[in-house]
Amino acid sequence: MSEFDLPELRPAAAEDGKANEFQVQPASRVLRLPPYMFGRINQLLYEKRKLGRDVIDLGMGNPSDPPDPMVTEKLAEAVQDPRNHSYSRSNGIANLRREVASKYVKRYGVRLDPEQQVLVSLGSKEGFSHMCLAMMGPGDTAIVPAPYFPVHLYAVALASGNVIALEVSDSDKLLSNIAYTCQHLYPKPKLVILNYPHNPSTVTVTQDFFTEMVQLARRYGFLVISDFAYADVGFDGYQPPSFLASPGACDVGVEFTTMSKGYNMAGWRVGFCCGNEAMIRALSVIKGYYDYGMFQAVQIASIVALRHCDAAVEAQAALYQRRRDVLVDGLRRSGWIVDSPQAGMFVWAKIPEPWATRMSTMDLGMHLLEAGDVAVSPGSGFGPAGEGYVRMALVENENRLRQAVRQMGRCLSVPALDPGRTG
Ligand SMILES: Cc1ncc(COP(=O)(O)O)c(C=O)c1O
Repeated sequence: MSEFDLPELRPAAAEDGKANEFQVQPASRVLRLPPYMFGRINQLLYEKRKLGRDVIDLGMGNPSDPPDPMVTEKLAEAVQDPRNHSYSRSNGIANLRREVASKYVKRYGVRLDPEQQVLVSLGSKEGFSHMCLAMMGPGDTAIVPAPYFPVHLYAVALASGNVIALEVSDSDKLLSNIAYTCQHLYPKPKLVILNYPHNPSTVTVTQDFFTEMVQLARRYGFLVISDFAYADVGFDGYQPPSFLASPGACDVGVEFTTMSKGYNMAGWRVGFCCGNEAMIRALSVIKGYYDYGMFQAVQIASIVALRHCDAAVEAQAALYQRRRDVLVDGLRRSGWIVDSPQAGMFVWAKIPEPWATRMSTMDLGMHLLEAGDVAVSPGSGFGPAGEGYVRMALVENENRLRQAVRQMGRCLSVPALDPGRTG
């Protein structure tokens, strides 16, 4: 399931006359999950597509470009080898873990022991969620960045932990808010979740930020999980820094990376957890109970991707950069106030007036889809801190992004939105 593909979680109330029917009562950990916010938009998108409407879908960050042919060729070859069809190791084959360690040395100057400090997960989301299960329990609290990428909240909630969401937009303020929370909350937060480049807000940080975070973690005794999903997607020469490159980071936390974004392998489900040995050992215990590892052919093809596809990863980032420019320029020309992101796959745009005061983000998202055939993610789907914004994913080509801007412009013109209004 994707970030926007969750089923309705609340159980249906017993209907009249069916009171004696057998009832399924999901566990409280399921029932206490926050309501799912993207359901209405997804339903309308589905109905429009069923009717054959050409919807420009900027909603989900689902990469639409193919992986490098070298990778798919290797997969086809590895599938033919009968030795690759057995159960694999739940923490990943040794050569893939070595390749990940070698990428960390080359790119970030971080030395990792591939045996103890690298684990292969079934996409970073699976690894992240199970890491929360391995670290969190009843009474434990995690700090998550707000607005939040849904799984940052759900995974803690599913592990029966509590969440404190702290504004991510100002990095210095976030550091001082974390320190303040640690000084005043009892028991102190056990975990801080970081995600830079941040989804959805696109906030980025420098290495110094991570270094200060490590110092705070040591001072207050919290663990850190860095979700580094957009490690490979920096623009204009900006290379997103790794949390693990800060001195002492491996003592206090781990970092998740993925083949989904930079390598266009989202459906392959390949992610990595690197860093603190004890945390990785705990995750590996959980995974040992829950899964038998990843299809070996996929792991072998992933080695080829990591070893030989740097140029393709750079080209992909350049493609996202061009799409960013098209979308940001178009939105600005239509009166939106929008920062140009330094990294990632999204534009996080403040809704222009008068719409920001007239409509909720959810209603605006519905209107853009209904009247403009453009799907975006309403900011409130990422929690209250996202209200007033929409997120647009750079997953359509440049022409379709231009078209999306025109279609949104048409349906946000005053007469189109509210023909009866004179003021
Ligand atoms: C911040 C963030 N973390 C994790 C993921 C999931 O990555 P993966 O495909 O490796 O599970 C995404 C995907 O949208 C993301 O935006």
